[in-house]
Amino acid sequence: MRRVLIGTGGGDCPGLNAVIRGVVKRASMEKEWEVIGSINSFDGILREPTEIVVLDEKAVSGIHFRGGTIIGTTNKGGPFAWPVKKSDGTWETADRSDEMIRKLGYMGVEAVINVGGDGSQRISQALFEKGLNIIGVPKTIDNDLPFTDFTFGYQTAVQIATEAVDKLVTTAASHNRILILEVMGRDAGWIALNSAIAGGAEVCLIPEIPYDIKKVVERLESRFSKGKGFANIVIAEGAMPVGGKPSIEEVDEVGYKNRKLRGAAARLSDELKAEGVKPDIRETVLGHLQRGGIPVAYDRILATQFGVKAFEMVMEKKYGEMVAYRHPNIVSIPLVDAIQKKKYVRLESDLVNTARGIGISLGD
Ligand code: F6P
Repeated sequence: MRRVLIGTGGGDCPGLNAVIRGVVKRASMEKEWEVIGSINSFDGILREPTEIVVLDEKAVSGIHFRGGTIIGTTNKGGPFAWPVKKSDGTWETADRSDEMIRKLGYMGVEAVINVGGDGSQRISQALFEKGLNIIGVPKTIDNDLPFTDFTFGYQTAVQIATEAVDKLVTTAASHNRILILEVMGRDAGWIALNSAIAGGAEVCLIPEIPYDIKKVVERLESRFSKGKGFANIVIAEGAMPVGGKPSIEEVDEVGYKNRKLRGAAARLSDELKAEGVKPDIRETVLGHLQRGGIPVAYDRILATQFGVKAFEMVMEKKYGEMVAYRHPNIVSIPLVDAIQKKKYVRLESDLVNTARGIGISLGD
């Protein structure tokens, strides 16, 4: 039996299960292959005893519409930075990558499929450079990975954020309020901009365009002066004022100092009040609701395509490459390219032009 191992790493994302199912279903057509899954990304391989599950057709039956990942995930540690607690209670990290590659050899694993975001794909590339047969599958709701038109999970997040805007519009109108919705988007404003257009917000603030609070106030005032008694604002968690920084909170988690983005909406609310904006202002932070639950059909399809392609890349020995979507094709690109940069909202893009064209202020 030939063996391929799959792991899901980083923050979860609607569609991960559809990828796993796509890999397993495609592999089952080639009789000599067995798919195994490592629990919580690479942790399952490194733990003693190992935490590995066999993924056959029965194991993946009906999982394509389930949120999360049946094999778990983690955004901490990994083979190059395994957290080790010191006697004084503080943490240090150990490089266990060689040990992990050796272990995969003993387990008879011929290739690894690593589903994850930019951090996970950097790990894929580093493992590839050490000789591991590895293929990457890109994943993030933020849609900020380059060389792929979309990542699965992103359309689901846009749908959830749009539904939130829809709801907030009605309550803003009833109370004559300004309602601010904070959505995910650490470095890129894809979810914010798309949900602002789809939901009909007046202002949308994204990390790519540091906002001038006076311009935001101007847009609100022009709306109020036309007799509209309410307004809706969508802000990405990574947005910042001109000359400022993203709103970040450092939290100690097991073996890891996590830099959480938190407070962009609250800060904006304070800034608006300081500018003398009169209507009541309320903030909603959508948070992890954007990452959980049922993937929309588009994401299930894209994720399934990624899974099938990833297994086919294993058969073709396209190691060191990552699956990508370049409309209308599913292609493969070198991992080394994929990890070089991020995909930001381009200010000269048609999407930005559309937002401006319907009167959305981007705070500039
Ligand atoms: O990268 C995806 C993402 O959803 C970001 O938008 C967000 O900042 C981050 O994950 C949250 O991660 P965590 O679940 O670790 O708080």
